[in-house]
Formats: sequence, structure tokens, C-alpha cells
Amino acid sequence: MMGYTDRHARYFLRLISRHALLYTEMVTTGAVLHGDRSKLLRFHANELPLAIQLGGSDPAELRECSRIAEDAGFSEINLNVGCPSDRVQSGRIGACLMVEPVLVAESIAAMQSAVEIPVTVKCRIGIDHMESYDAFNAFIETVADSGCDSFIVHARKAWLQGLSPKQNREIPPLKYDYVYRLKQQHPQLNIVINGGIRTIDETRRHLEKVDGVMLGREAYHNPYLLAQVDHLFYGEPGLERSRDEIIDEFSEYAEEQLASGERLHAIARHLLGLYKHSRGSNAWKRYLSAHAHKQGAGVHVIRAAREQIS
Ligand SMILES: Cc1cc2nc3c(=O)[nH]c(=O)nc-3n(C[C@H](O)[C@H](O)[C@H](O)COP(=O)(O)O)c2cc1C
Repeated sequence: MMGYTDRHARYFLRLISRHALLYTEMVTTGAVLHGDRSKLLRFHANELPLAIQLGGSDPAELRECSRIAEDAGFSEINLNVGCPSDRVQSGRIGACLMVEPVLVAESIAAMQSAVEIPVTVKCRIGIDHMESYDAFNAFIETVADSGCDSFIVHARKAWLQGLSPKQNREIPPLKYDYVYRLKQQHPQLNIVINGGIRTIDETRRHLEKVDGVMLGREAYHNPYLLAQVDHLFYGEPGLERSRDEIIDEFSEYAEEQLASGERLHAIARHLLGLYKHSRGSNAWKRYLSAHAHKQGAGVHVIRAAREQIS
């Protein structure tokens, strides 16, 4: 999620779940090819398994970026066909590609030709007046013909004119039935559902119908939810770290990052939701928000925030 799931957020989330697949923010092909690559693609080995999400639609550029991403050590490459913002539409990136399935298929084929790791697509169920199940299914079938067998579907369409990206995550109704039907029709495809999923119970119900669940906002704003997923959904013992242990581990990481020149606020802002739905959440958030951005703030701020709770 742009502006949220940076490397610090991912390091933190990985302290909570060992197995949940994490994703980078979207990185455009232009940025990978012409920007500060070492900064853009930087991650800590502890974050793995980690998918990089690319934004673009030029098959040759996507092929080159995929090669670069595989070399950098990412676990999966995901193509963004879901972002509705004006800025990306003008670059033919994101949800506007829902009506260009042939171009998406060519892009995926080019990406796959360059790498061994999985190449996946994250898409919507439609855009604008493309809103029937048949049109959505036709998009998936065309892209699947390129060899892509894994789709993450945000189960609402996007209106490309008139709604902001935020409204496009809230206003168009969720149609989970489209995603269930897609899985029924194509049992060989790996179908991951996304959009508005907030609890373990909801996750469990979706998993009766599809192969995977992606949590966006809830995973970020209520991260401790992920503490349950390793043993519930991956059949593995969980890390079973208490919130206190997570804070201790993360503080060590924060210490290293501060020593290399990062500011505490950039690191600690991702911790705000750690106590969501539990006692002391407001005091924790209030303290961190008030102190982490101050000039020279150190890791003691995180520990002091914890003391506000007990
Ligand atoms: C602030 C923000 C930034 C996002 N950035 C991206 C992004 O870079 N790539 C992407 O595929 N989706 C992005 N999304 C969409 C989410 O991945 C997800 O599809 C959407 O929020 C619906 O799922 P949720 O209800 O679980 O949050 C973003 C969402 C938010 C709230």
C-alpha cells in the first residue's frame, strides 16, 4: 500500500507472522529503470517472503524490471491492474488496464520470460461500465492464457472518473460472488480475494470458496491480527510473540536504523495500531504521535509509549 507498506512496516509485520506473504508498495517501471534503485528496492532479508508490486504496461520495461527484481531477491512479482488514481492512468498503469487484457497478457508473458519466480496479477472486478461478470471473466481468461495462474482480486470495480482513490476503496459495492464464481469456473487458477476483509472469521469463510485472502487496511491498522494466521492458515506454529516482545525486537531494529540516519517517526509510525482493540491503545498512539517526530527522538520513545499502557 503506497505510503504505508515500506520496508520498516514490513519488518514490523514480519515480527508478527512468519508466513503471511508481504507486498511492497507499487513501484513503477519508470522508477525502477531510472530512479534510485538501491533505495526503491531495498529490503531486509527478514521481510521474506516478499512480493514486489510493479506498475507499468510496457512489456519490454516490465520484463527488464522483473529481471532486476528477481536479482534483488524478491519472492514474487505482482502487476498492478487495480490502482485507479489519475496519476497512474495517465501513465497507462493500474486499473485502466482492465480494458486492455491483451496488453496485460503480453506484459505478463514478457515478465515470465525473464524470471523463475511467480508472476501474479492484482486486479479489480471491472472499471466504469465494464461491470458484468462475463467481462471480468473474459479479462481473467485472456491474461490466464499468457500462463499467469495467480490472481488477487479486489472485489469491487473502480470508477476512473469522478471518484478519488479513497472513494474507490469504499463506494463501489463489494461483489465477492464474482470472485467465488471465478474460482468455481477455473479451479486450476490460484484465486486470492481482497477488499473489506477485517477478521479471522471472515477470512476463514472466504477460504472455503477461494485459495487465499489478502488483507490491506486491516493488516496495517490492526497488525496483531496477523499473530493468528501462521497456525490457523499455514498449519505451522506461530511466532507467538507478545506485543511486548515485538516491541523489544522492533526496538533493536529501530536502533540500527537510527544509527544509519533514519528518523524515528519514519520507523515508529507503523506501530500505531499494535494495541488496536486492546486496553491502552489510545495512550500508546497518543504518546507515539506526540513524541516520535521530535528532532533527535530515539528508541526510548517507543519504550516510554509502552509505559503509558501499564
Ligand atoms: C493507502 C493505501 C494505499 C494503497 N496502495 C496500493 C498499492 O500500491 N497497490 C495495490 O495493489 N493496492 C493498493 N491499495 C489497495 C489495497 O491493496 C487493497 O486492495 C484495498 O485497500 C482493499 O483491501 P482492504 O479492504 O483489505 O484494505 C492501497 C490501499 C490504501 C488504503
